[in-house]
Amino acid sequence: VIDLATLEDRAAETLHPHALDYYRGGSGDESALADNVAAWTALRLRPHVLRDVSSVSTATTVLATPVRAPVLVAPTAYHLLAHPDGESGTARGAAEAGSVMVLSTFTTQPVEDVARAGDGAPLWFQLYVNKDRGWTAELVARVRAAGCTALVLTVDLPVLGLRLRDERNGFALPPGLARVHVPPASAYDDDLGASPGSALRAHVNRDVDASMTEDVIGWLADVGGLPVVVKGVLRGDDAVRCVEAGAAALVVSNHGGRQLDGAVATARALPEVVDAVDGRVEVYVDGGVRGGSDVVRALALGARAVLVGRPVVYGLAAGGWAGVRDVLDAYAEDTARALALCGAASVDDVTADLLAREP
Ligand SMILES: Cc1cc2nc3c(=O)[nH]c(=O)nc-3n(C[C@H](O)[C@H](O)[C@H](O)COP(=O)(O)O)c2cc1C
Repeated sequence: VIDLATLEDRAAETLHPHALDYYRGGSGDESALADNVAAWTALRLRPHVLRDVSSVSTATTVLATPVRAPVLVAPTAYHLLAHPDGESGTARGAAEAGSVMVLSTFTTQPVEDVARAGDGAPLWFQLYVNKDRGWTAELVARVRAAGCTALVLTVDLPVLGLRLRDERNGFALPPGLARVHVPPASAYDDDLGASPGSALRAHVNRDVDASMTEDVIGWLADVGGLPVVVKGVLRGDDAVRCVEAGAAALVVSNHGGRQLDGAVATARALPEVVDAVDGRVEVYVDGGVRGGSDVVRALALGARAVLVGRPVVYGLAAGGWAGVRDVLDAYAEDTARALALCGAASVDDVTADLLAREP
């Protein structure tokens, strides 16, 4: 049994302190990071009893893709920093666990290698839109050719949040590691010379298109020919704008508490977005989902699935591809357990009234 609560401690034993700070940290005072976890915990469950849960299924679909459990791999950067298996290891682990991996634009291995490691398992690609739209269009064509079946457009990063841990330790990729899917001038951190603070912040603020509006959703759908999932929505009005602009699904996310200091917890933002979307597209959520009860809470609030960021990276750090598989298996098993204990034989049996009304 993988104990999700102590996984971070196991990863901490293997990671360089700067890498651990990068993975673990949030922006500003890190209250959004802490509040993500606390907001799930604050939602109390009202389980049914005396229901037939002799057989429980966690299976569902996301964008019509079957998954073993409603738990997907959130896009996270720099997997070679966590383990030599890198993003390919994460893809293999996700494939073996029957999940969907979202590969970050800031991958340290090429999308073709990652897709091969997943051996046909569903792979989605997370996109940061570069100021050079031509570059972005070429990247989209490339990830599609590699077999990615959806684009996940991250919209909560017009500039990088102020991550004080990274600023203090001058976080940069070690020599030899690169962001392989950004323009060559931005691939390596060592070209920044004596730039103080986080090298990532310097690159992102130079390269990412902070002028984009919801028009980018239709543009991406046209150039990519793939469904566009919009990640980083926290408000109902924005959710409606995204749906009207052509989004195929939304991810309620505050980037794991790494962007706006003081952002609302995702468990609190989710109901507003689910209401506004009114069933037109699937809604997913991430941030602080740390076990099966949190998965059930998210489903009860109307999410179709959750994404998990840090625990997957910790699994990779602690055990390579098999560690990723074990973490995702643990989520699936814990979700099955929580469903059974709620008297729900499948994800379709999860209803809003499983949650206690807040006092
Ligand atoms: C180390 C790290 C790197 C991340 N890199 C990206 C990224 O490249 N693109 C992106 O859209 N989100 C990125 N995120 C945010 C995650 O996709 C996700 O929103 C968040 O981690 C979910 O919260 P959790 O870590 O509490 O599960 C990153 C998060 C972490 C922790």
